[in-house]
Amino acid sequence: MAGELRRQGLGVAGVASPRVLRDGETVGYQVRDLATGEERSLCSLDPPGIPFRRFFFSPDGLAFANAALERASQDADVVVVDEVGPLELAGDGFTPGLRVALASGAFLVLTVRPSLVDEVRTRAGLAEAAVVDLDISHPPPRTRDGTRALFDAMAATYDRGDGEAGPLAGSAESIARSAALVQVRAGERVLDIGVGTGAFAERVARLGTEVWGVDLSPQMLARCREVHPDYHLREGHFLSLPVPDGSFHAIISSFAFHHLAPPEYAPAFREILRVLVAGRRFVLLDILFASEADRDAARAGLGDLWDDEEIYPLIPEVVEAAASAGARDVTAHRVGALHWAITGTKPRGP
Ligand SMILES: C[S@@+](CC[C@H](N)C(=O)[O-])C[C@H]1O[C@@H](n2cnc3c(N)ncnc32)[C@H](O)[C@@H]1O
Repeated sequence: MAGELRRQGLGVAGVASPRVLRDGETVGYQVRDLATGEERSLCSLDPPGIPFRRFFFSPDGLAFANAALERASQDADVVVVDEVGPLELAGDGFTPGLRVALASGAFLVLTVRPSLVDEVRTRAGLAEAAVVDLDISHPPPRTRDGTRALFDAMAATYDRGDGEAGPLAGSAESIARSAALVQVRAGERVLDIGVGTGAFAERVARLGTEVWGVDLSPQMLARCREVHPDYHLREGHFLSLPVPDGSFHAIISSFAFHHLAPPEYAPAFREILRVLVAGRRFVLLDILFASEADRDAARAGLGDLWDDEEIYPLIPEVVEAAASAGARDVTAHRVGALHWAITGTKPRGP
């Protein structure tokens, strides 16, 4: 776009914020001065920096961006600000440079996520501004390597509960309600798939069980090992659990199943049933929706707190996958505002 405007003889400047990808996963953003092509780091999943949502922002990157916007406001016909987001609405980020740009009389091009368009227009005094829908709000699903990279990067800060304002809100209560659905006795073995730092496992360990955990992310497992040195932890995947057949009296999981793609649901349940003792139960807690309409309503209600990179499953798809894998008594229990626990048992005989 900037190139096209320049071909029309217009001076274009401002800032763009390209993603930084590691194994296909967004782990930060750069900020680029469109006049010079120079870049600085803007934010990263890893400290140091100013924490905001799941990123740490670089004071140096922000100062560089605001200086670029101030220069652009003096020199250019068209000033690009990519993006005006939650940080700017909180009065931080690119706000100083944006204020200068708004006062300059330059033609502004702002990138804004769909859920914030109205608020940005109102707050910036741009009620008449044209809106062009770029239709880029639904990225492709994450790869397995992408999911591993995401949780490896988040492991150090995961337990601070930064996600608690979004779809994960109330997760501790939902875990407690799901733990009440687990049927195990002291001394029996429990496997938590996607154990993370051990939130669900820890509740079930209180019953005197022997806890095992499997997770895709070595860094989440390392954090879990620090807090729970007595757990038996293994790197692995829903679809290939590194444990023997029929070896667990209960299988549990919290907020991990939705990282699978729909064609993986039934194979995941087959693997769960392989490692369960016959006649025993799995309890799978996650952010799930009864219908697409419910999922759309939740997305609209949560606005900017909804993470478009996550794909939350529909309950009928999960229930059908469990039943088709051979589970009996498959039931969905509502345990929180957006949280459901799916239970089912492994049949005793053929
Ligand atoms: C949102 S965290 C939840 C962690 C923990 N169960 C809790 O409730 O706090 C999701 C976890 O699932 C793991 N995970 C994601 N996809 C997985 C997969 N296919 N197999 C095993 N673990 C997976 C991630 O590495 C991460 O530790």
